[in-house]
Amino acid sequence: MTHEKSPAVYIMANRHRGTIYTGVTSDLGGRVLEHRDGSRGGFTAKYGLKALVWYENHADMASAITRETRIKTWRRKWKIDLIESINRDWSDLSDNLIHRPFAPPSTSRHSKRANSEAEHAIRNPAAGSPSGVPNRSLAPSLARRPVAFGMTDGVGVAEGVRYFPQYFSPEAQQHLLTQLRAAVAAAPLFTPEMPRTGKPFSVRMTNLGSLGWVSDRARGYRYQATHPVTGKPWPAIPEVLLSLWQEVADYRHSPEACLVNFYSGTAKMGLHQDRDEQDFSAPVVSVSLGDTALFRIGGTERGGKTQSVKLASGDVLSFGGPARLAYHGIDRLYPGTSTLLKDGGRINLTLRRVTIPSP
Ligand code: SIN
Ligand code: MN
Repeated sequence: MTHEKSPAVYIMANRHRGTIYTGVTSDLGGRVLEHRDGSRGGFTAKYGLKALVWYENHADMASAITRETRIKTWRRKWKIDLIESINRDWSDLSDNLIHRPFAPPSTSRHSKRANSEAEHAIRNPAAGSPSGVPNRSLAPSLARRPVAFGMTDGVGVAEGVRYFPQYFSPEAQQHLLTQLRAAVAAAPLFTPEMPRTGKPFSVRMTNLGSLGWVSDRARGYRYQATHPVTGKPWPAIPEVLLSLWQEVADYRHSPEACLVNFYSGTAKMGLHQDRDEQDFSAPVVSVSLGDTALFRIGGTERGGKTQSVKLASGDVLSFGGPARLAYHGIDRLYPGTSTLLKDGGRINLTLRRVTIPSP
């Protein structure tokens, strides 16, 4: 493979319209070889993404990173359109790399649509800065990439909060749902209760992983290794969620708990902090499936300003670093916005590290 070195944004795939990965590099030829021989590890090695199906050279790295970040926020359909605009058959382009300079995004319907969608999805972008959670523009740029928390993509909502619209394709959502159904058969949904009052939550829930979150009148909020009704260990966290964690959590150890919350039509969740974990250095990574919900997130003090994000089926949101203890909750669902769940409603999964890993 011959190539000249220049910053490039690229997409790898495992087959025609299969799993795809968007990346950025200063040496495309070298990077593709790493993906091909698996030496780079991670997502592309795991899913066998060995074909270079799209790429674009950039004059400088800042512009390449901006473009990569933007593409990563797109719906899968737009990425497929982008690939097929130059490579209908999804052939491997790596054997004849040519210089393909970047076309300015202002002429691209993809970037306009992606930006306007992100802007609509998050209300109050210009609201003030709730304590500990300064607002950021929705348009990611090199300068705005959150350094402190080290995320590599996603749309910045506030410092430490990253939003990945349509992270899971419809097929991936369906696959995940099948796995969740099997898990719920083994570890049935139960209704948590408020400590002291015993008032039932409006969501029903279960857990996956070595630890699960439970709450009842007698013993309050806690993590435990077994289901409160069956007494059995929780089912394992599916591989696809462990891979998600590896991709977005920026944390070396595995998650121990995956809370599975099921919201029916009127269920909601009041503003609260996730603080029953011992290790706050790991983020909380959340996946939404089913009907769209209005998620609200504020600062680390109760009563501060908040921002809202409409979380649709397939969206991923993580909050960590300065936002790890941010107050958050679900105001409402938008019934009928997804066909994923036959009878409507919403499933939310949150991946969490609970214990402090031994050194
Ligand atoms: C949670 O805070 O545990 C759930 C949030 C959500 O349902 O999106
Ligand atoms: Mn929570």
